[in-house]
Amino acid sequence: MTNEEKEEMVVTPWRVSGDVDYNKLIEQFGTRPLTKGLLDRIEKHAGYLHVQLRRGIFFSHRDLDWWLDMYEAGNPVGLYTGRGPSGPVHLGHMLPWFFTKYLQDAFDADLYFQMTDDEKFLIHPNLTLDDTVHYTYENTLDLIACGLNPRKTHVISDVKDINHLYRLALQVARHVTFSTIKAVFGLTESDNIGIIWFPAIQATPCFIQSVRERRNVAVLIPAAIDQDPYWRMTRDIAERLGYYKPAQVHAKFLPGLGRGGKMSASLPETAIFTIDPLEVAACKVMAAYTGGRPTVKEQREMGGEPTVCTVYAYYYYLFEENDLKLTEIERECRAGDIACGDCKARLAEVVKRFLIEFQMKREKARSQLDQFLLK
Ligand code: TYM
Repeated sequence: MTNEEKEEMVVTPWRVSGDVDYNKLIEQFGTRPLTKGLLDRIEKHAGYLHVQLRRGIFFSHRDLDWWLDMYEAGNPVGLYTGRGPSGPVHLGHMLPWFFTKYLQDAFDADLYFQMTDDEKFLIHPNLTLDDTVHYTYENTLDLIACGLNPRKTHVISDVKDINHLYRLALQVARHVTFSTIKAVFGLTESDNIGIIWFPAIQATPCFIQSVRERRNVAVLIPAAIDQDPYWRMTRDIAERLGYYKPAQVHAKFLPGLGRGGKMSASLPETAIFTIDPLEVAACKVMAAYTGGRPTVKEQREMGGEPTVCTVYAYYYYLFEENDLKLTEIERECRAGDIACGDCKARLAEVVKRFLIEFQMKREKARSQLDQFLLK
């Protein structure tokens, strides 16, 4: 593919395609890069620096410095993130949730977690409302298995909990025009009116803690950068409603196991779902794209290229937190000391061990579900 033929980068809440250039996104979206100074401040409160910060997986922000100022000055702070429950959860979805747990522990913050069972009904013609509400509960099990604090986590189902959201959503909606929605989300005249209204619903949890606690709470949203359009819209109107603008910290995308692109439920053969049977997950890993040489002999002679290899990406993003061990994985790849097949088999074992433990926690979570649902 020549440069001219390269697929254009598109990053919206509903579509991510092309080669994602994160520096360009910072420019396009008008966000700011995470600096060493900010990382030091977070480390001071957390006691250690999360691997996703150390490796630049969370890479950009809006007003994180202000959110930290608020915390350091003793003001109330909160967290907000979410999930569109359209099916089982994959590892990419959980990347920001692992990080959210770290922030919740470090800042002893309440987390409002929105399950947009309305959004997924509106955009997936093949899903019924019963399906999306069912996935709300199933996906909450994954969230619980990430280790969040039951006393400080409040899971909102848009469909079931609309009484908690509606008044706020109306306030938001009155200040947002159709032309803003078209420009920010790329929606058109032929989109259904539900999805045109929906951004007001996704904005409301930015303010829900303030309403419930009857005081203004500074909210930080950890999520991948695809969700940023919602926050641009929300930040524009927050102060007019009497609330603080929500701050954000943005993650890069965990790649899928195929060639290029983020891990996505729409490409199930290149995504590892938390409920995948072990052998299914292992087969997906064994079919992963590595960019390896055509023959083992060439691989041994010329070495591999970890920066294009999805197997290496999985170690980098999730499965090897020890920096020295990661460097060794990179070295043996570049030196041609390990063949791609062996490297995949090794990762498949790691993924299986992860899934065994996670699936146990997920089953245990069934008895804890009630404690996490919004009261
Ligand atoms: P959803 O279900 O598409 O994604 C859930 C969360 O996972 C992130 N994400 C990824 N992160 C890293 N690598 C990937 N490959 C990857 N794929 C998805 C998303 O950024 C998101 O953080 N409309 C939202 C639900 C929502 C929400 C929110 C998300 C409601 N309120 C507040 C974040 C913050 C959605 O459909 O997310």
